[in-house]
Amino acid sequence: MKPIDFRSDTVTQPDSGMRQAIADAVVGDDVFGDDPTVLHLQDRVAELLGKEAALFVPSGTMANQIALRIQTRPGDQVICESGCHVYNYEQGGPAALSGLQLTCLSGDRGALSWELIAPAIHPDDDHFSRPSLICLENTHNRAGGCVLPQTLVEKVGYEAHSQGLNVHLDGARLWNAHVASGRTLADLVRPVDTVSVCFSKGLGAPVGSCLAGEAALIRAGRRVRKLYGGGMRQAGILAAACLYALDHNLPRLADDHRRARRLAEGLDNPFISLDHEVETNIVIYRTAHEERLLAFLAVRGLLAVAFGKGRVRLVTHLMIDDEQVETALTALNAYVEEPA
Ligand SMILES: Cc1ncc(COP(=O)(O)O)c(C=O)c1O
Repeated sequence: MKPIDFRSDTVTQPDSGMRQAIADAVVGDDVFGDDPTVLHLQDRVAELLGKEAALFVPSGTMANQIALRIQTRPGDQVICESGCHVYNYEQGGPAALSGLQLTCLSGDRGALSWELIAPAIHPDDDHFSRPSLICLENTHNRAGGCVLPQTLVEKVGYEAHSQGLNVHLDGARLWNAHVASGRTLADLVRPVDTVSVCFSKGLGAPVGSCLAGEAALIRAGRRVRKLYGGGMRQAGILAAACLYALDHNLPRLADDHRRARRLAEGLDNPFISLDHEVETNIVIYRTAHEERLLAFLAVRGLLAVAFGKGRVRLVTHLMIDDEQVETALTALNAYVEEPA
């Protein structure tokens, strides 16, 4: 039997409607700026996010790395949260691609307050790298899909700008923050200069992300996209899937959140505890031996991933239904830690 795959919200398969939208897409050469479906997606995303312009790119990683490159100079200081994707999971891209020095600060469930950031900003002194950018993540993956407190994002944006720094938001799962908080997407990103969003996570598209911000920044980003090999030709077949995902899969994220809460509330096992309050579609459990728990689940047809020492992550998404959540809970609650 096919395993029930809780490893990530990136494992979804395009449904027949999405495949049809891909087949029907009107396309052109997007490096020439000729692909009407890509242009339509970019306009739609810019409007949804309340930004002047958006750029379609293959991945969230590329969107983040372009954002860093266009808002810094080599040697600059970028301040980010120590659990963030840009620092942990992008292969040192900020150093390799843009020559940046990251200052990583431990936040509260992934959130960085201005009080934490301010003392870490390098002074205007010849000895130090020049501070230029603050990087936030909403929802925060490693912290368990937490939604950043919006007052905090607003304060960071306001104070950063008053000191001449820009703010980038990794919004790979901004859609989840929007659905969980009830705030508009534009409200969530008003305080930041650039934002990346992904269609290939909870929204269920096979490929695709956008970077949005002021038109001049996005123009600069378009050049860097080409430099990084992200200029795509008849990319409308991908953009069509992203448009379909926006139309069909955004409001249903509330179901993923409800199922993730059920995975938290239905846990009843002295050998497993919850790592965090579940706010969106990510659940991280704590246990003594994460590999042992993963193997136990795998034998019962359930896939999850280790997420650091003693942590196991399950993610709900559009291919997980209520019954599969109950199957997972039955297995989790049956887990017994063997004595060493
Ligand atoms: C928070 C966050 N940012 C960025 C990315 C990178 O996205 P991609 O896999 O499309 O490069 C991910 C991927 O899971 C993510 O979780």
